[in-house]
Amino acid sequence: MNFKEKYGQYALITGASSGIGEEFAKQLAEKGLNLILVARRKEKLEKLSKKLEERHKIKAIVVVADLLSGNFLDEITQVTDSLEVGLLVSNAGMMYIGNYLDNSLENDLKMIDLNIKVPAILTHHFVQKMVERKKGGIIYTASLLGYMGTPFASTYAGTKAHEIVKGEGLAYELKPKGIDVLVLNPGLTETEMTSNNDFSGMPMKLMKPNLVAKSAIDALGKKVLVTPGFMNNMMIWMTKRMMSRKMNTKMFGMFMKKTF
Ligand SMILES: NC(=O)c1ccc[n+]([C@@H]2O[C@H](COP(=O)([O-])OP(=O)(O)OC[C@H]3O[C@@H](n4cnc5c(N)ncnc54)[C@H](OP(=O)(O)O)[C@@H]3O)[C@@H](O)[C@H]2O)c1
Repeated sequence: MNFKEKYGQYALITGASSGIGEEFAKQLAEKGLNLILVARRKEKLEKLSKKLEERHKIKAIVVVADLLSGNFLDEITQVTDSLEVGLLVSNAGMMYIGNYLDNSLENDLKMIDLNIKVPAILTHHFVQKMVERKKGGIIYTASLLGYMGTPFASTYAGTKAHEIVKGEGLAYELKPKGIDVLVLNPGLTETEMTSNNDFSGMPMKLMKPNLVAKSAIDALGKKVLVTPGFMNNMMIWMTKRMMSRKMNTKMFGMFMKKTF
């Protein structure tokens, strides 16, 4: 069964203007899905939409929205209310790396809103119709860091831990209703998000975003959690089987301190 039959006509992707989200857009278009591309940068979204519509003969609708604004759901639903959104890719996110004490409360709360509250609002909205249609899919982009307390990225890692645990629970609850839930846990990925830090001291290399998005698309419906990359999986294995949580945190603290 192809993606359109299995999930529905449209995939809505947040954070589609760059990085992993842009790759989700390209690869889901290749699978024949129509797209709703959400982010703030209009030109980037329009360029991507044009390219994908021409190349894959699909429809790619642009929604320019700041997901941290109070009315972002209205802006999205103005476009989506008449469409069959069968796949929600909740991918937009922000990260702060640095000393906790140097980050403002305002920025900390923005990160919590974008990484936790926005996916919650979108899930609540789109899951209702998926349940009525008895089919659908939800992908959350979390992070490898969600598996451990991560000094110098404490709040970020906490937001991603939330997505992992929530996704696991939701997957169980929604499977009998025909809805696949997947949590993607990328390790370091070569995107704008990682462009201002030096990760050369980390044990794992930065992955290409196309491989990261592909791992999720391939795993949807088959797994609940997916982590792309051998070294990232080794890291998870070690954190679970070989080291205490305290040791993990200490190790990541040493790595992260050198990145900013
Ligand atoms: N890169 C990594 O190493 C890595 C590792 C693990 C997990 N992740 C996760 O992967 C996801 C995608 O990040 P990425 O690495 O692909 O970084 P990225 O290239 O910086 O992409 C972030 C996306 O989120 C959008 N976005 C940010 N703030 C927004 C807002 N207020 N409203 C609407 N859209 C907003 C950005 O678009 P606009 O700026 O156009 O709004 C952009 O499209 C994030 O959830 C991130 O936490 C990344």
